[in-house]
Order: sequence, then structure tokens, then C-alpha cells
Amino acid sequence: MYGRLMALASAALAKNESKNGQFVLWKEPYNQASTWRPCADNRNFIHQGHDKKHTGFILISANGGLNQQRVAVCNAVAVAALLNATLVLPRFLYSSVWKDASQFGDIYQEEYFIDYLKDDVHIVKELPYHLQSLDFETIGSQITDMDIMKEAKPIYFVKVVLPLLQRFGAVHFLGFGNRLAFDPLPLYLQRLRCKCNFHALKFVPRIQEVGSLLVRRIRNYEPRLTELDTQLFGNYMPPTVLGGQHNFSRPARYLALHMRFEMDMVAYSLCDFGGGEKEREELQAYREIHFPTLVMRVRNNNSMSAPELRKLGRCPLTPEEGALMLSALGYKHETRIYLAGSQIYGGLSRSLPFKRLYPNLVTKEDLLTPSELAPFSNFSSQLAALDFIACASADVFAMTDSGSQLSSLVTGFRTYHGRGRAPTLRPNKKRFAKILSEERTIRWSEFEERVRNMIEENQRVIARRGGRSIYRQPRSQGCMCEVL
Ligand SMILES: *[C@@H]1O[C@H](CO)[C@@H](O)[C@H](O)[C@H]1NC(C)=O
Ligand SMILES: *[C@@H]1O[C@H](CO)[C@@H](O)[C@H](O)[C@H]1NC(C)=O
Ligand SMILES: *[C@@H]1O[C@H](CO)[C@@H](O)[C@H](O)[C@H]1NC(C)=O
Ligand SMILES: *[C@@H]1O[C@H](CO)[C@@H](O)[C@H](O)[C@H]1NC(C)=O
Ligand SMILES: *[C@@H]1O[C@H](CO)[C@@H](O)[C@H](O)[C@H]1NC(C)=O
Repeated sequence: MYGRLMALASAALAKNESKNGQFVLWKEPYNQASTWRPCADNRNFIHQGHDKKHTGFILISANGGLNQQRVAVCNAVAVAALLNATLVLPRFLYSSVWKDASQFGDIYQEEYFIDYLKDDVHIVKELPYHLQSLDFETIGSQITDMDIMKEAKPIYFVKVVLPLLQRFGAVHFLGFGNRLAFDPLPLYLQRLRCKCNFHALKFVPRIQEVGSLLVRRIRNYEPRLTELDTQLFGNYMPPTVLGGQHNFSRPARYLALHMRFEMDMVAYSLCDFGGGEKEREELQAYREIHFPTLVMRVRNNNSMSAPELRKLGRCPLTPEEGALMLSALGYKHETRIYLAGSQIYGGLSRSLPFKRLYPNLVTKEDLLTPSELAPFSNFSSQLAALDFIACASADVFAMTDSGSQLSSLVTGFRTYHGRGRAPTLRPNKKRFAKILSEERTIRWSEFEERVRNMIEENQRVIARRGGRSIYRQPRSQGCMCEVL
């Protein structure tokens, strides 16, 4: 779509000179970032708990993928504390989209979770025996996402959920996506959410182990053993001895990119991606099957046109646009890039423009052997956990869409634990669309400058504003503390 700009980008990268004076590539540009420290686990904040009168059990079956579940779990922890209820270890719903039967204990360390939060909320593994046969739906003690509005205020839980809890001894939240408001919320609950999200949820050792291997491979610290090597050497060849061409004294730095350009979001967006008639037909066919109500809306002339959507920044960024963003910022041709997610719509032909500018592009499938990946391959949430780890531990994390739950949680995690050394690049899609709309005339230097300004503005260090997600923006009272 952007032939001229891509050529300019390519020329700029080929020059390979470090004229990059203005944009800070591998650090947070603002020093204030390091004045915020994690403090959700500060013990002085613990809400006086032991005189609490137990009100009942909260059961939650969280829906969505890994990251949506994480939010649901920590919101449920806060609700249990609010109502003085005992939380039963969360369950995860099986969904036809994610096709993953993993339960809490397949992803997170159960004992650690229970123990870490024990001063704040009581958590048990199972409902007590006498409640196990309750049919929550029939007795009316099941609350689905249809029953609660999004981001409900605490008073809702006290008024509606507490009486059910007291009457039946237990309440079941089914789904529970984004059901608890961010503000206003008492400080001790806000803090508890952070303590849950940033401290209490630890991946199980088998995920940590392969996650660590993955990151070492991205950093070129440990070469991938081929199937041949494993067959031949067993455990007798320490990986660092192999692959003599590597310099193991210094880990390579890398940028992790969450490129959200999957079929379903591309189709849902109603945007045009320059793929011509064939692509339009393909996306339309997909919509007919998966998004019938959307198709209806288009038929009723009740939707915006593709050019309007693009102008408003409603279109997912293509790999090409992602590459333009990184090259405008000054990331070099050789930059090592870890690509999270990796089911790019349009396959190779869509990702080729990106790979031309940035050939050092790797995914977990490239870096782990089939046998290392096999234990995870049928579990999309566990694969997503590996992406989470690789993105969170990157020197720089870039996203193409700030609306995704993975990007949001990774951003927050890096802000919280990064000590001001974990920069995140987040485009403003509307502004980027405006800049790109001038593709035919804009000079490369102006393009660079405007993209840099756009990214830098989103890197400013500001305290969380009311109503925003504390999981994404932990610089907020009770979660992080400002050390001046
Ligand atoms: C760019 O310069 C670096 C050293 O500064 C060198 O290692 C690399 O090979 C160069 N890349 C190109 C494409 O010329
Ligand atoms: C929970 O316990 C605290 C401390 O005893 C009490 O102040 C509060 O009113 C209780 N809340 C509910 C919803 O029972
Ligand atoms: C390996 O890295 C170290 C530290 O950066 C450097 O001093 C050394 O020259 C490198 N060795 C090779 C063979 O590239
Ligand atoms: C759809 O709406 C546009 C402007 O909103 C109008 O120009 C066009 O005629 C409408 N088409 C139909 C089929 O109603
Ligand atoms: C994944 O699931 C499929 C279908 O259930 C099964 O055939 C396959 O063996 C599983 N793969 C692994 C690595 O467990």
C-alpha cells in the first residue's frame, strides 16, 4: 500500500548511519519513569482482616484467553475481599475460539497464589462438600456477563451479590470479563488487584523453564539444538559449546513486537488493506460466517466506509505499517525482533514487506524445536504465556494495537517491574493514519519526525487517570509509589 514510503524506509535503513540523534531507541526517554517503584506488596497496606465475618464462597469461571482470564481472576480476588467472601480457585472456561482446556493450575502456581494473598483474601481449592452439589443456575446464584454491566461499581456487588452470597452460601460468576470498575474503588482493593496481577500470579515451572529457554535463544545466548543434536548427543553436549560462531559473553538485545493482524480482526474491522478484489471477497466470506450481525449492519447501510474507518484510525496496522513505524523511529535493519502471536493474515505475502526491512525476525516456532513446543502446542493459553514472557522481558516492546489485552498487560507489567528501563512503543492509530495519508508527498525526514513525536508522546510518564486500567497503567496510588 505504501510503495513510495517503503522505498524511502529501505534506503534509510541501507544507509546504516547512526544519525539517530533524537529518538531514544532502547531506553525510556523520560527519567521520571524510574521514580515509580512497585509497592502493591507493601505489607503496611494490608487491610485489617482477621475479624472479618465470612460471608460465603465466590466461584468464578473466567472466559477469554490467557490475558482476559488474568484480569478476571484479579477482579474476582478484589470482589471476594470486598464482600469478605472466600474465593474458590478460579476455573477457566473452555471456548471454541481458544480451544484450550487448561485450568488455573496448568498455567499458574496454585500454592504460591493462595499463600501470597492469604493476608488479604482466603482462597480454597474446592467448594466445601455440602455446597458442591448446588445447581447455581437453577437457584439463581449464578451471575453471567449479561447480568452485570461492564465495570460495575462496588456498590453493585454489595447490593446484588452479597444477599445471594448470604442466602445460598455461594455465588458463581460465569465469564466475568471486565466486570469490576477501575474507579472509584477503595484503595485497599486497588492495591489488592495489583498485588494479584503483578505478584501473586506466577507461571508454573514448566512454562517458566521453556520461557527462559526461549528468551535465551532470542538473545542468542543459547543456540537451538536441532533434533539431530538431541538424537546424537543426549544430555552430553552443553548447548554453549555448540555453535562457535556466537559470542556468548553478551546477550543480544531485542525488540518484541505484538503485531495484531489476525484474520478475525482484519475481517471485523471492515477496512480495506489494498489486497484487491480477491482479498475483499475473502474477508466478506469470512464475515458472512463469523460475524452475521456485522454483515447485517453493513447491508442496512449502518456502518462507515473503508476510507472513513482508515481516516479515524480504526484499522489494524498491517505488517507494512508496523515496519514503517519501526524504521521511522530509527531501528536498524539488523534489529533482532521477536514476533508475538504470529498468525498474520495473508501469510508470507503480507509479512514479506516487513521481513525485507527487518530480516532478523523470529517467533517461538523458529526458536524452539517441535519437541520443546509439543507440550504446549494444544494449549493456546500456554503458548500465549510464552509470548507474554518474551514480550515482557524484551529490551523494547512495541505493539501495533493498544486495544489488545496482551499488549495492555505486558505494558503494565513492564511499567511495574521495569524500574524505568523497559520502554514500550505504542502508536496513536488515528495520528498515524493521518501521517500515512500523506504517503505520496511526505519527505522521509518529516515522516520520521512525526512518527517519533507520536510515539514519544505516549511514553510520557504520567500517573494513571481515573477510569483507566490499573493493569495497564500501574502508576497509581496503592499500586506503585513515587520515590522522589
Ligand atoms: C551496519 O553497520 C553495522 C556496524 O555499525 C554492521 O555490523 C552491519 O553489517 C551494517 N549493516 C548493513 C546492512 O550494512
Ligand atoms: C467485611 O469485614 C469488615 C471488617 O470486619 C467490615 O467492616 C465490612 O463491613 C465487611 N463487609 C461486608 C460486605 O460484609
Ligand atoms: C564478544 O563480546 C565482547 C563483549 O562485548 C567483546 O569485547 C568481544 O570482542 C566479542 N568477541 C567476539 C569474538 O566478537
Ligand atoms: C448509504 O448512506 C450514504 C450516506 O450516508 C448514502 O449516500 C447512500 O445513498 C446510502 N445507500 C443506500 C443504499 O441507502
Ligand atoms: C493435540 O491434539 C490433537 C487432537 O486432539 C492430537 O491428535 C495431538 O496428538 C495433540 N498433540 C500433542 C502434542 O499433544
